[in-house]
Amino acid sequence: MKLLIKNGTIVTPKGEIKGDLLIDGKKIEKIAPSIDEKCKTIDASGKHVLAGLIDMHVHLREPGFEGKEDIESGSKAAVAGGVTQVCCMPNTNPVCDNAVVATYIKHRADEVGLCKIHPVGAITKGENGESLSDIGKMKSAGIIALSDDGKSVENSQIMRLAMEYANDFGLKCLCHCEDKNLVDGGVVNEGYNSTLTGLKGSLRAAEDIMIARDIALSESLDIPVHICHVSTYSGVEIIKSAKARGVKVTAETCPHYFILTDDIITSYDTNTKVNPPVREEKDKQAIINGIKDGTLDCIVTDHAPHSIKDKQVEYNLAAFGISGIETSFALSYTYLVKTGVLSLAELSYKMSAAPAKILGLEGGELKEGGVADITIVDLNKKFVIDSNKFLSKGKNTPFNGFEVYGEVQYTIVDGAIKFKR
Ligand code: DOR
Ligand code: ZN
Ligand code: ZN
Repeated sequence: MKLLIKNGTIVTPKGEIKGDLLIDGKKIEKIAPSIDEKCKTIDASGKHVLAGLIDMHVHLREPGFEGKEDIESGSKAAVAGGVTQVCCMPNTNPVCDNAVVATYIKHRADEVGLCKIHPVGAITKGENGESLSDIGKMKSAGIIALSDDGKSVENSQIMRLAMEYANDFGLKCLCHCEDKNLVDGGVVNEGYNSTLTGLKGSLRAAEDIMIARDIALSESLDIPVHICHVSTYSGVEIIKSAKARGVKVTAETCPHYFILTDDIITSYDTNTKVNPPVREEKDKQAIINGIKDGTLDCIVTDHAPHSIKDKQVEYNLAAFGISGIETSFALSYTYLVKTGVLSLAELSYKMSAAPAKILGLEGGELKEGGVADITIVDLNKKFVIDSNKFLSKGKNTPFNGFEVYGEVQYTIVDGAIKFKR
């Protein structure tokens, strides 16, 4: 089966090409100013053709929390957001700490058949932080990386062993950095706004200490490590100086950290509650600078869908998390490209090529012979974010009512159209 995308602006690693892209089966056959082929054709005039987005930090909730999201609803949301590949975190029930759960997720992903889904295995059994999970068996079952996301591995010796085992199996640890004792029940950033609202704050240090620890382990052991959802200016500095020393550290951040500050918590809207919390203006600026200078390698969502009943409660009791997979491209385009922080090609790199490189995934760039995972966007299309229209079960976003540019028009996975607006 062939598919021709005509008259688009094709964003490739070698620059933008105005023209056509021909897909044959699962592969990109040709990219050229003009291709003539009698086959199914998409008119992409006025649109941009990007490598399929890859979101390496997503919570799909299945098995166990299907009221919040399941693999089917999460996949529909992903492709509506232009995402062709996701890595799903293991804080499910049961936890993805064994080959059976990892196999189940891959099997369900195949049944649903929308985007590619790569399970992340838990570092420790039940994410209990105490004993290592069956890393080797999970690797055979197809996990892409390891993480106890939702928590840090508090015990540094366990973390050391995890990094060594993971590395032996060619896997990376994706570190959720949080010193639980120091967080001590904090629900927002500790600062002026936590005092103003009376909501318990959590210090930047709670995040920074664990970023520094995991980098120290990576440096001492000479094993690569990846830092999840960086939110602090000081965390950016720690990562930047480690990179300058040649430490094999990569890092991600999310739209809420480069768009929002904790001024929004004064609304007491629980959709602003996320872990780590959104912080202050200087953090936001440092995250933007870190994205620009390469300290922060990629943009992920930490898509954390929750049900209404998990969020429509007092701030202190509400679940942490933002449903983000359907808004990440438009928010990133609006707040990073339209503001001149990144070029479109640089944004595409952060949302596709960089995660592919970090995890060794196929795709991530448009090239002849490459996999046909493609996202077509209309950059001029302005719209207002409305969570009622989300395909995700999680309507929990602090971005409702935000006016953004850049609407996903088509999502193509392995040469097949999986989403059409
Ligand atoms: O806000 C968050 N939500 N942060 C996490 O680390 C976990 C996630 C979730 O699973 O809901
Ligand atoms: Zn996390
Ligand atoms: Zn997460």
